[in-house]
Amino acid sequence: MSTTKIGLIGAGGVAARHARVLSGLPGVQVSGVTDVVPEAARRLADEHGAQVYADTAALLDSAPDAVYLCVPPFAHGDTERAVIAAGLPMFVEKPIAVDHGTAAEIAALVETGKVLTAVGHHWRYLPVVERAREVLAGRPVRLITGSWLDKTPPVAWWPIGGRSGGPVVEQAAHVLDLARHLAGEVDEVAAYGNGTPPAVEGADVDGATTAILRFASGAVGTLAATCVLGWKHRAGLEVYADGLALSLTETELVIRDGDGVETVRCEPTDGHVGVDRAFVRAVRGEEDDIRVPYAEALRTHELALAVALSAAEGRAVTPGAVRA
Ligand SMILES: NC(=O)c1ccc[n+]([C@@H]2O[C@H](COP(=O)([O-])OP(=O)(O)OC[C@H]3O[C@@H](n4cnc5c(N)ncnc54)[C@H](O)[C@@H]3O)[C@@H](O)[C@H]2O)c1
Repeated sequence: MSTTKIGLIGAGGVAARHARVLSGLPGVQVSGVTDVVPEAARRLADEHGAQVYADTAALLDSAPDAVYLCVPPFAHGDTERAVIAAGLPMFVEKPIAVDHGTAAEIAALVETGKVLTAVGHHWRYLPVVERAREVLAGRPVRLITGSWLDKTPPVAWWPIGGRSGGPVVEQAAHVLDLARHLAGEVDEVAAYGNGTPPAVEGADVDGATTAILRFASGAVGTLAATCVLGWKHRAGLEVYADGLALSLTETELVIRDGDGVETVRCEPTDGHVGVDRAFVRAVRGEEDDIRVPYAEALRTHELALAVALSAAEGRAVTPGAVRA
């Protein structure tokens, strides 16, 4: 098996996680790292025996087999354009942008250039999510309640709406992606923000957001998100169908029906490894098990933006409204 060389753009928290996972996959080498903060690139490159490159252009010149974009939400756009122009497969971390225009433009370039893409919605690779889908097959979802109840992450850009997109776009998007995965498309949302930012310097995002979701299937749902706790309290979904209740987190699925209760467990790393392995296998042409290519992530991004728009404007909106 020839070595698959991966370049990393952005060398922060999530890049370190991908580098660890990728370095543990057979036949994969983290070959290069670049970051606008050169010391960050140097630190991560040294851990994995990779080269440091001054910028994206230099990293692309080194001819990796594929590239990971692990930059903050506000930094998407130019990097994707450069990777697409180089014709390389790209793994993009969520959220794919802070706005809709950038993401839609990149999606069009990806489609025209037939670029192999994956986006970091790794929950879809969790065994508990796969099992939830199996259990729900043929049993229409009636009700979903999703939540992301957490602290404010300690990166400077996070509590600033124009930099991160806000808590729903940046964080609760994982739950919205799963809601789509389990119950189909949402055709209208009505959301409210509580108008008070978390007690963190420079914060301008809502400390709490709630939303009502109406699915095209007729299912209904809610989302609750807060970033004012000092710990990760809960991130997950409750899903209800006739005679069936599921409670799903990144580590556990509890299935209850008329016959009793069954609990299935897994590790978050199952998703982290699954999403990277699937991307690498697709890059090598071995198997296409990419569950969230860029176009699919755009649908989740549109839903998250619709929740944010509804909360900002105090009116119900369709996910399509964010395309206007
Ligand atoms: N899928 C997941 O579970 C998961 C987990 C954590 C983070 N994320 C996502 O990953 C993204 C990054 O998060 P993070 O925690 O690693 O942030 P971070 O701030 O720790 O790291 C981002 C890095 O990107 C660098 N950077 C900024 N602009 C750049 C550019 N134009 N070119 C190159 N480097 C640039 C920064 O200097 C920084 O080192 C966010 O969108 C976040 O939501 C996803």
